[in-house]
Amino acid sequence: MNVAVIHGQNLRLLGRREPDVYGTDTLDDVNARLLELAAELGVTLETFQSNHEGEILDFVEEASHRVDGFLINPGALTHTSIGLRDALLGVERPFVEVHLSNTAGRERFRRHSYLSGVASGVVYGFGVESYLLGLRGLAARIGG
Ligand code: DQA
Repeated sequence: MNVAVIHGQNLRLLGRREPDVYGTDTLDDVNARLLELAAELGVTLETFQSNHEGEILDFVEEASHRVDGFLINPGALTHTSIGLRDALLGVERPFVEVHLSNTAGRERFRRHSYLSGVASGVVYGFGVESYLLGLRGLAARIGG
């Protein structure tokens, strides 16, 4: 099983970005936890971060040739990007959407996601654990 993890806008700032909302783990910490779990699950994982919508869309297309699914925290693109939704739909690979924070309990504009309706599943509100739960779900979906 091959999975690509995509971290979208501003997620490279993890650790120092609004730690009361997003916690103190850095992006490297998150990736290390994911790689550890991936090894346990027999998943080969690659990780990617970009602040640029077009680069993320290009990555989805390129990586789709070698991966069975995507785990994605799009950051703010969640709430704005029809292009990202179309890219993920277009490559016909299952994906799980994750968020560190509980987006349902924050500002109104964070309550809408362009991706949730076409995702295999969504996990939000558990900090780093959201990613780990999401990876378990995605692996089960791909493997099953
Ligand atoms: C986020 C939630 C988004 O609303 C926000 O724009 C982010 C991070 C999260 O992981 O909680 O950048 O995706």
